Amino acid sequence: MSMLGMLATTKLGEATSGGGFWMPESASTVAPEIDGVFYFINNINYFFFALCVAILIWFAIRYHAKPSEHATFTTDAPTHNTSLELTWTAIPLLLVGVIFWLGMDGFLELSEAPDDSYEVQVTAQKWSWTFQHPDFGVTEAAELTVPLGRPVRLIMTSSDVLHSLFVPAFRVKNDVVPGRYTSLWFEATKPGQYRLYCAEYCGKDHSKMLAVVNVLPEDEFQTRLGKLAREYEDIVDQDLPEYAMVRLYNRCASCHSLDGKSGTGPSFKGLWDRTKSGSTVFTDGSTLKDYMGPGGEFEVPENYIRDSILNPRHYIVQNYAATMPTFKGQLKERQIDAMVLMLKNLDRLIDEQGNPIENPDLSGADVSTGAQK
Ligand code: CUA
Repeated sequence: MSMLGMLATTKLGEATSGGGFWMPESASTVAPEIDGVFYFINNINYFFFALCVAILIWFAIRYHAKPSEHATFTTDAPTHNTSLELTWTAIPLLLVGVIFWLGMDGFLELSEAPDDSYEVQVTAQKWSWTFQHPDFGVTEAAELTVPLGRPVRLIMTSSDVLHSLFVPAFRVKNDVVPGRYTSLWFEATKPGQYRLYCAEYCGKDHSKMLAVVNVLPEDEFQTRLGKLAREYEDIVDQDLPEYAMVRLYNRCASCHSLDGKSGTGPSFKGLWDRTKSGSTVFTDGSTLKDYMGPGGEFEVPENYIRDSILNPRHYIVQNYAATMPTFKGQLKERQIDAMVLMLKNLDRLIDEQGNPIENPDLSGADVSTGAQK
């Protein structure tokens, strides 16, 4: 195949959307162009690999020493060939120039989001993703709902260490850095669900730091976000524990188990009993009981839970490290109530093995959230 013929088959923007051997499914406006650059470079590699190996084999056959011959050296052998050297300089230079131009062009397009982009604020923390929609006052965790066919801009920060947000189907990735905002944008071209990964090793459960991008047509997107915006307001107190289990616990799950096993944080199983009785021991040797009761810091046990969600490094439970990030600003007051009620009624929500029960019986559940907030 001639060089020109090879280039012609890698016309930009022709990559299939179903994905192939090298690339996953593609579902954003920039994906075909990025795939085009990839296949362009890849095909150049194939071509030169084949060329070099062919010449190698041919030279080995053509110039190998025959047993009958003795090596002879002549002083007038060629030392250089100007036109050959110019050729093997000019062609690679041209190719590298084209690769740079294609890469720079794509990089610039990716680095600036269109003005009318839909904005989502992303917070990464060990080991979960939180997505806030300012337009709707909605916070999602482990799932990001975005509109189809509209540019979406993610403004990202981390509350602990370096993470990196990566959606292979959209061909976008960027670091998420504590103390700084980074951003990326994409425009989804196909409705569906796509995987979102953390692509920066961020500790023990890095590999579990996953989320799903849910691309919905505009009208479904509006309906869904509208529903999410009202969901916890419409829920009656009686249903809050289950709401927390289904909608909020996924943000705690990587550190707090439901089956009694210690993780990065204490298990939620039995946590309410330990809290109510004040038997929890802290790293400084004090027990929760020392801070409870009338006049104490936590007049009611519910307030210790609340404090642990908002100021998680205030009191550290013995044998654990101060690694939990705050959920201040990420949970609405009613959602914090829901968490408290979930912990209070955990026995009704999970079975012996710590698996959530479907349609749990919450009649007669204790739904008082503590007197003061
Ligand atoms: Cu977050 Cu890896």
